[in-house]
Amino acid sequence: MRGIILSGGSATRLRPCTLITSKQLLPVYNRPMIYYPLNTLLKAGIKEILIIVAPERAGDYLNLLGSGKQFGAKFTYEIQDKPKGLAEAFIIGENFIDDQSVAMILGDNIFEDDFSEAIRTFDSGARIFAKEVSDPERFGVVEVDKDFKALSIEEKPVSPKSNLAVTGLYLYDHRVVSAAKQVKPSERGELEITSLHNYYLELGELQVTKVTGDWLDAGTFDSLLAANILAKEKLADKMII
Ligand code: G1P
Repeated sequence: MRGIILSGGSATRLRPCTLITSKQLLPVYNRPMIYYPLNTLLKAGIKEILIIVAPERAGDYLNLLGSGKQFGAKFTYEIQDKPKGLAEAFIIGENFIDDQSVAMILGDNIFEDDFSEAIRTFDSGARIFAKEVSDPERFGVVEVDKDFKALSIEEKPVSPKSNLAVTGLYLYDHRVVSAAKQVKPSERGELEITSLHNYYLELGELQVTKVTGDWLDAGTFDSLLAANILAKEKLADKMII
């Protein structure tokens, strides 16, 4: 399984901090934010990782993370010229993915859970990870039946059908590349990851796993503050990097 960390975007919600650096390089307690999703992948045994960054920040990522050797891994870098959506990562990463399965994690997503088992046992189709939240309208939302089988999935619905947010860790087989090429831009002009999930849902190949530990998308000042506290209280001592 190969890994992708999507770390692009302009993070306008975190200005002025993000005028001079990338959101995913801001400190979260005692490490740069991207260390947390990187830790999640490395802990699960993923060693070949593509890091997708915005053009203005590429040098900063290279300075910080380098070849990956110091982490016992191999890093490759690609540029996302404009924040055209999460699903574009699989078009940018086509050659990197090749015929392998891929785990993508968002550079601003911070997880407490260990996903080694879910990643090791992944075979084909797609697997998403859902977490109960109080504000599902901010996220992709998945509706499930009593056996946790996906019934529907919507991007930032005004009237969410459940309180299960789709978190920023996703596993796909290699078909994700051709699926991404078929996605049409949404009203906000982005290639939505939710469209990929609907593709696998229609095939009957979308699996949903519950996230039991804490999870945060550190994209706002309030969630960034919460991420700092989570990192200090629960994560810092358990990191392998
Ligand atoms: C993105 C996805 C959304 C997902 C969220 C998780 O939203 O589009 O489905 O729930 O990440 O962090 P964004 O952060 O781009 O608004």
